[in-house]
Amino acid sequence: MKWQIVFFGSFLPVFSLGDNPDTADYIAIRQTLSAYPFAIDSKNFDALTNFFTEDVIANYSTPINVLNGLNAVKTALSASLASVHTQHALTTQLINIDGPQTASSKTYFTASHFGLGVYEGEILTAWGRYEDGLIKTSEGWRVKTRTLVYMAPLIGNASIFGSQ
Ligand SMILES: *[C@@H]1O[C@H](CO)[C@@H](O)[C@H](O)[C@H]1NC(C)=O
Ligand SMILES: *[C@@H]1O[C@H](CO)[C@@H](O)[C@H](O)[C@H]1NC(C)=O
Repeated sequence: MKWQIVFFGSFLPVFSLGDNPDTADYIAIRQTLSAYPFAIDSKNFDALTNFFTEDVIANYSTPINVLNGLNAVKTALSASLASVHTQHALTTQLINIDGPQTASSKTYFTASHFGLGVYEGEILTAWGRYEDGLIKTSEGWRVKTRTLVYMAPLIGNASIFGSQ
């Protein structure tokens, strides 16, 4: 079974369920993808080991840009989110199992950043999607490549990032 969706006037690659879809893999991939917001929003960056491979290449777009390796991702994210609390909500999602040990997914997110201290009550919101490449390791499915694509301007109070 194959389908296409119209996306901003262009066509996404065809997502296929494959000849022998393994429901357990879809569930396991979704569980892995859900580990990211829980790690980030609780500022438990070490838990990203349950999400990324050690050699992940993550393109966070401007201003963070491309990060090579899990340690670089942990360092950059913990620094950029140090002065805010966050909620990353995952919504619309397509998962494609490309082979026995490879998969790809696209997931919309809304990231709310909440100010602290004098910025209590102020918010900055980002809308975008994660485009992920996953591999099945002995530990489970892990994201090996991630591209964050913003789908709208940041809306809200950008000063909250300078609050502490
Ligand atoms: C990173 O992702 C952005 C947003 O999709 C894209 O414009 C940019 O070309 C990518 N950078 C690299 C080095 O691939
Ligand atoms: C950001 O929040 C601060 C503190 O509440 C406020 O003084 C400032 O006007 C806000 N800036 C914007 C662009 O809303």
